[in-house]
Amino acid sequence: MSVYFDAPVSATDSLIAEALQNEKARQQNQIELIASENIVSRAVLDALGHEMTNKTLEGYPGARFHGGGRYVDVVEQAAIDRAKELFNCAYANVQPHSGSQANLAVFFTLLKPGDRVLSLDLAAGGHLSHGLGANLSGRWFEAHHYGVERETGQIDYNKLEDLALEIRPQLLITGGSAYPREIDFERMAMIAQKVEALFHVDMAHFAGLVAGGVHPSPIPHADLVTCTTTKTLRGPRGGIILSKSVDYEKQLQAAVFPGVQGSIHTQVLAAKAVCLGEALQPEFKAYTRQIKNNAHTLAETLLGNGIDLVSGGTDTHIVLLDLSAQKKTGQAIERLLERADITSNKNPIPFDRKRPVDWVGLRLGVSAATTRGMKETEFSELGQMISKMILAAGTEEEESVIQKSKKQVASICLRFPIYS
Ligand SMILES: Cc1ncc(COP(=O)(O)O)c(C=O)c1O
Repeated sequence: MSVYFDAPVSATDSLIAEALQNEKARQQNQIELIASENIVSRAVLDALGHEMTNKTLEGYPGARFHGGGRYVDVVEQAAIDRAKELFNCAYANVQPHSGSQANLAVFFTLLKPGDRVLSLDLAAGGHLSHGLGANLSGRWFEAHHYGVERETGQIDYNKLEDLALEIRPQLLITGGSAYPREIDFERMAMIAQKVEALFHVDMAHFAGLVAGGVHPSPIPHADLVTCTTTKTLRGPRGGIILSKSVDYEKQLQAAVFPGVQGSIHTQVLAAKAVCLGEALQPEFKAYTRQIKNNAHTLAETLLGNGIDLVSGGTDTHIVLLDLSAQKKTGQAIERLLERADITSNKNPIPFDRKRPVDWVGLRLGVSAATTRGMKETEFSELGQMISKMILAAGTEEEESVIQKSKKQVASICLRFPIYS
């Protein structure tokens, strides 16, 4: 036996081994309600930790720049075929290292520096890679944003059309990280067509719901669609580009490699293929139906306790709390919930204040806890606990309410274990 080839990290690096062990325990002992997270299968973990990581490869199946790629070719072709079958599309590129890289490759394909893009505002639920000033997309393109209505928290498509006619963007973008409602892709495609813009949908968050058939698909309406394999799709960290046609195939292949990336993360490619295979199984459809039911239960329970939600509810896995009536910040409540072993994140809500510490939004998502097997009963209990903690924040009861919730969380976690 060779130490180098055979010793586990627990035998060679105590600092990292301990952090890994602690992280595993944290995941077991906390309820994960961060909307962008999920819990991958053992099979996905196996692929991620596989020796395939040693293989350096550039190019595409059958046309590589290095030798020895025949097994990675099998994996990449399977990932492409599965993505095409799952999303019913003609083109898939499974190489992007992340969602942001997938978006960058789309921009590289469809735009020239200085072109105008029109995307959902960050505070209205958009994503920073869609033209935020601090992101490369906001520096290289002239980014304009549409928002949501103050009363409804939803996109007003008539106003969006007027804005698109004024801006005349080369690319209309939709999708985001905190928009809890379904988007009317058909209407947006018509707006794009009217102003002669191309139409890009970033379905990073709801891709799993589309795959499971519980959310409309943007594929028939958009020129290009991107997503991550994390979040509701329940796979490794990475991105995918999809299209209903092969019209942009040549440009997209070149945009991913060598346009914005070099070699493939080969072990992640294997994990993507595994997760896409899992999403094709009937159990995945049942999983996504449960996500919808759980999100609905959580939303209704919070509303029933007087907690406001942006848009008044959800059509997805995301529930976005508006804490302004309670005069609380998202950061304060995120910290409070963590003391009871519930993980969440502060988030801006539409028309929120600028500084993250002042945001009054808190974003919750049900995908990870649904993977653990939690159903309506647990989400109703969670909704009650979260409401009580918000209402008790800053009062004399705060500590006792948190301690009571912490015990309830521990009991739920024991009933829904992850990994053995
Ligand atoms: C809508 C959207 N697009 C892109 C991304 C970026 O993905 P990544 O973190 O893999 O770059 C995210 C991540 O949260 C997202 O929510």
